[in-house]
Amino acid sequence: MSSTPRPIRSVSNTELYDRWAKVYDTDGNILQALDDHMLPPLIDRVFKLLSSSSPLTITELGAGTGRNTVKLLSTALPISRINALDLSPGMLAVAKSRCAGALGSDGQAPQVAFYDFDALRPANYPLVASLSLTADLVVSTLVLEHLPLSDFFRTVKWLLKPEGGYLVLTNMHADMGRKSQAGFVDEETGEKVRGESFVYEVSEVLEEGKKWGFVLEGEVGERGVRKEDIGEGRLLGERGKKWIGCLCWFGCVMRLKV
Ligand SMILES: C[S@@+](CC[C@H](N)C(=O)[O-])C[C@H]1O[C@@H](n2cnc3c(N)ncnc32)[C@H](O)[C@@H]1O
Repeated sequence: MSSTPRPIRSVSNTELYDRWAKVYDTDGNILQALDDHMLPPLIDRVFKLLSSSSPLTITELGAGTGRNTVKLLSTALPISRINALDLSPGMLAVAKSRCAGALGSDGQAPQVAFYDFDALRPANYPLVASLSLTADLVVSTLVLEHLPLSDFFRTVKWLLKPEGGYLVLTNMHADMGRKSQAGFVDEETGEKVRGESFVYEVSEVLEEGKKWGFVLEGEVGERGVRKEDIGEGRLLGERGKKWIGCLCWFGCVMRLKV
């Protein structure tokens, strides 16, 4: 392994995510740490809004290594089933092993199933097509920046129940996206690897959502890196230092109106 990353090489998205899966949980990515910190209030908010007496179906779009799937599995929230979808078999393999044996706080866990899926080509995945229009809630964390906005909302709507449902969305903030792009250093080759990514302002995400029938529930949360976040035992490691003062994350709850 070389100490200085070699020049950037662009690769196909599936290759990118399969390679990223090997280091995704260990490379000190600050967005994941911010997301770990900021997501729980959004999940609490959406569960208050859902307040259904029957257990819920959640579909996770771009579940990755199951970082958030396992949190949902391990709560006492009234969830009957989680469908974890992702483009990358490598990511899904990590998610499966991470979720194996996870139990809710009451000793029970929802059913969880993992599916290969490309949000840009939903019709090509018959197993996932059978889940279309069944979700009470779609959760999609740190995925939007990798997809065209209209494809993202089209697919979320395709997954949600026709009588309406909710979306919990988190993403890289445009202030960070203008300075950086999702990627990683491949430990085997020393290459800095990057795939396709898009920079979205919060306002354009809300505007596009509106076109597809989504309205905002509550406030959009934005989170930058603060000086006090950095250091041993704090929210972020040294990789966070260069982002002090920059907004890096946003997240919100949206409702599909019928
Ligand atoms: C930055 S990771 C986020 C993973 C996870 N949600 C998290 O928050 O840790 C982005 C994920 O989106 C997935 N992804 C990218 N493009 C996709 C597409 N077109 N369809 C489905 N998943 C996709 C990738 O494979 C990757 O697992």
